Amino acid sequence: MRAYALWTMGFLVLAALSVPGAASQRASVPTLRANGMRMQERILRLAEFGRDPRGGVSRVAFTEADRQGRAYIISLMRELGLAVRIDPAGNIIGRREGLEPQLPPIAFGSHIDSVPNGGRYDGVVGVIGALECIQVLTEHGITTRHPLEVIVFAAEEGGLFGSRAMIGAVTPEALDVVSQSGMTVREGIRAIGGDPERLAEAVRRPGEITAFLELHVEQGGTLEAEGVPIGVVEGIVGINRWDVEIEGFANHAGTTPMNQRRDALVAAAELILAVNRVVTTVPGRQVGTVGRIEAEPGAINVIPGRVRMSVELRDLSAEKIEQLFERIREEAHAIEQRRGVTITFTPIDATAVPALMDARVRRLIAETAQELGLRVLSLPSGAGHDAQNMARIAPTGMIFVPSVGGISHAPQEYTRPEDLANGATVLVHTIVKIDRGALSRK
Ligand code: GLV
Ligand code: MN
Ligand code: MN
Repeated sequence: MRAYALWTMGFLVLAALSVPGAASQRASVPTLRANGMRMQERILRLAEFGRDPRGGVSRVAFTEADRQGRAYIISLMRELGLAVRIDPAGNIIGRREGLEPQLPPIAFGSHIDSVPNGGRYDGVVGVIGALECIQVLTEHGITTRHPLEVIVFAAEEGGLFGSRAMIGAVTPEALDVVSQSGMTVREGIRAIGGDPERLAEAVRRPGEITAFLELHVEQGGTLEAEGVPIGVVEGIVGINRWDVEIEGFANHAGTTPMNQRRDALVAAAELILAVNRVVTTVPGRQVGTVGRIEAEPGAINVIPGRVRMSVELRDLSAEKIEQLFERIREEAHAIEQRRGVTITFTPIDATAVPALMDARVRRLIAETAQELGLRVLSLPSGAGHDAQNMARIAPTGMIFVPSVGGISHAPQEYTRPEDLANGATVLVHTIVKIDRGALSRK
């Protein structure tokens, strides 16, 4: 009798696992585990596209290297059985149907474009991690109720353009911004298979996505310093950027007395210091950077007549950014008087609004990690992410994994395979829980 009962139970379990619908309910979820070595191999393979002889990668959005990297990701998506499409903003969307195809999809992903001479992990971990989740689900015979969408956002660096388009926030001015590739965003979107004239068709409205999740390297050193493997992001900073032009007067460097110069580069030096001073003399975690500068005519024996440079400010509060900018403008005005130059600030339409992550998603990620025996830390993100745009249309959360040495946007960027695996494992479990209704119970 006992033997019969056991045999029957075994049969029922086997039968359940062979029926896709039942499998989605019965498969033993705690056994789902991402493969860190497989992720690492794919990350290194992707790093071949745009490999920089100085180390790291230069896979700047819209360039040939970006296009090659995207082609590699599309081939991986197809191998994993995803239906691939490119939306009019150039976002790559790989879809796996659910048992209830009418449900709004659970979406997850990140970006594969990089800064010039950047690292191999920024963004890439979220894309390769998303594909790993799909593979792990498939290996366990799990079909979710909701459709799943892996999203590779276009042109994240320098403007979050793909996700901005997805929430309908790209202005005509943003399309005219000259990107790091030298192409305008409009030209670039075309180069990667999008259609800037049809951007409205890329828009996803609130309710159309059940939840959005982004796995990402921390890009700072907190998790490593604390010895904690998983970060739960509380909120993501807003980012405002300006082109600054300083107009002085180019003149002979030998014959023009020091008190008769209108040296644009000296004025720029003062402005750079002023940005640093303004940002550091008020309490808080705000940051400000001048990351780009060019002086004209750029000759050893000519006083610089014109300087073009950038200013970028970041904080979790949009009002704080506004206040800091006002103070920088006042300082710039004083420099104009002192140095006989004119300083013009032009906002670059490549901004990101600050965003809090959804409290239910944050709790779910934290609980999931703890159930898997992984310690968690809540922390803000000083880097911009597509998740901050997606947060405007869907319950959104971000999972961070440690960056060795806190290094990012640099060739030395590195995250260990076991941390990659932990992050993707938390991601896949969180997806399964959301699929089973965890957010409506929170
Ligand atoms: C994106 O990586 C940013 O924070 O600039
Ligand atoms: Mn990134
Ligand atoms: Mn980045």
